Amino acid sequence: MKAGVIGAGTMGRGIAEVLLASGFEVVLVDRSPELAEKGRESIRKSLQRGVDKGRIAETKMDEMLGKLKVGADFTAVADASVALEAVYENMEVKRAVLDAVSSVVSSTALIGSNTSSLSVTGMSSSVKNPGRFLGVHFFNPVPVMKLVEIIPGEKTLPEYVEKARDLAVQMGKTPVVVKESPGFIVNRLLCPLMNEAAYLVSEGVASPEDIDTAMKLGANHPIGPLALADLVGIDVLYAIMETLHEELGGEANPDLAAKYRPCPLLKEMMDRGELGRKTGRGFFSY
Ligand code: 3HC
Repeated sequence: MKAGVIGAGTMGRGIAEVLLASGFEVVLVDRSPELAEKGRESIRKSLQRGVDKGRIAETKMDEMLGKLKVGADFTAVADASVALEAVYENMEVKRAVLDAVSSVVSSTALIGSNTSSLSVTGMSSSVKNPGRFLGVHFFNPVPVMKLVEIIPGEKTLPEYVEKARDLAVQMGKTPVVVKESPGFIVNRLLCPLMNEAAYLVSEGVASPEDIDTAMKLGANHPIGPLALADLVGIDVLYAIMETLHEELGGEANPDLAAKYRPCPLLKEMMDRGELGRKTGRGFFSY
C-alpha cells in the first residue's frame, strides 16, 4: 500500500501522518525539497509527542518514519495506489498539480483533493481519467479529527466513491458523502461562524477572549471561533469565505453575497502577516 501526498503544509502533513499510522508507505511531495523536509520534521515531532504520551511505541514511530519519503519530485508518486492533493486553496494551483499527478500515477489510482470549498468538477477537467477523482476533505488537526467529507464530482465513478469511503475507514475516520456545493457541510456552517466572530471583534461588541469564552461556555464548543480561525489560518478562512461569497452569492444574489462577505478585518490581518498559529499571531498570540 503506497500513497502520495502532494503539499506538505498543515493538512498534507497531517494526512501523511495518519496514512503512515494506517500502514501505508507515504511519499510527501512539495514544490521544494526544503518544504517537504519541513513536513517530515513536523510529522516526526508529532509522532514523538505520541511516544512521550505513551500512545505509540518508539519502535512503531521508527517504523512509520522509515516508510516516509519526502521530496520535490512528482514522479516519486508514480507507483502509488492513492494520491491525495493538499496544496494551496487556489483553483489554478490545484489544477496544475492534479494535471501533473494524474499524468504519472497508474490510470486506476484513486486521486483525491483535500479542497475545503472549490468545485471538484471544476478541478476534474485537469485530471487524466477523471472517473477516479473526487474531493476527500480532512479536518484540522488531521490526527485528531474523525471526519472525512467525500465529494464526488460530476464525472466520478461510483466505485471510486466506495474506494474513498474504504480509505477513510482504513485511516480510522468516519466518512460522509456530500453533494458538490461550496463549502460542503462543515465549512458552509463553520466558516460563517468564524467570519461573524471577526465582525463582532471589528464592531467592538466584545473582546476576542470574551467572544471565545462565550461560545465555549454558552454553546459547548471545544475552542472558541476566533481560536479556531487561528488554528485553520486567517488566509484559509478568507479564501473559503471568498468562495462562498462568489459561488453562493455573486452579482445574481446580492442578499446571499452580503451574508457570506468576508470580514474586512481578516484582510487587514493578512496584510499584517497575522495568519494565526502558523505565524505566531492571529486573534491571539502563540
Ligand atoms: N496533532 C496531533 N494531536 C493533537 C494535535 C495535533 N496537531 N493537537 C491536539 N492534539 C491532541 C493532543 O495531543 C491531546 O491528546 P491527549 O489528550 O491524548 O494528550 C488532544 O488532542 C487534546 O489536545 P489539547 O489538550 O492540547 O487541546 P484541546 O483539548 O483544546 O484539544 C483540539 C485540541 C482537539 C484541536 C480541540 O481544540 C478541538 O476539537 N478544536 C476544534 C477543531 C476543529 O473544529 N477543527 C475543524 C476546523 S475546520 C477544518 O479543518 C476545515 C478546513 O477546510 C478549514
